[in-house]
Amino acid sequence: MVGPEQPLLPGEEVPGPEFERKAEEIIGQYPASRRSASLPLLHLWQEEFGFLSERAVEWISTKLGLKPIHILELVTFYPMLHVRPSGRINFKVCRTLSCALAGSHELFAQIRARCGATVSAGHGICVSPDGSYSVEFVECLAACGSAPAMMVDEEEFERATIDTVERILAESGEKEASQGA
Ligand code: FES
Repeated sequence: MVGPEQPLLPGEEVPGPEFERKAEEIIGQYPASRRSASLPLLHLWQEEFGFLSERAVEWISTKLGLKPIHILELVTFYPMLHVRPSGRINFKVCRTLSCALAGSHELFAQIRARCGATVSAGHGICVSPDGSYSVEFVECLAACGSAPAMMVDEEEFERATIDTVERILAESGEKEASQGA
């Protein structure tokens, strides 16, 4: 659970017409109970804006005709819902059994130290003070035979080590350098 030291950020996000359209489409999939659209709408918001703010809770609860607490309790319960922006590069490390046995907790600690991800952003996600990097645990990534598994954006890395992390960081640095050139 997100502790009281992690209140939601106010947020200035303004959903545009395309977002509204997608939201209505999702709600339309649950004719028997608009409330069932709560989690899909939270995921939609997080995909669009990166994290869930006070504004997200207000907007979604109004949209579904619910009290804000009904949405807030989901945000504070599910670890995959972020109450703070994650880093520009976000490492998702599997903590389920096979990966835990193969050293994923050690890998998590190494990434945290390497990236200076020392600021807690709720639900166990740790972010570097400049917001560049973050690391969080996730559940099974369906690569148990090649543990430990890790994801960065949509890319999955199997038998991940701190060397994998170094390579990702180097490649992202090269990419930025070439874009700035
Ligand atoms: S236990 Fe980590 S991928 Fe399945």
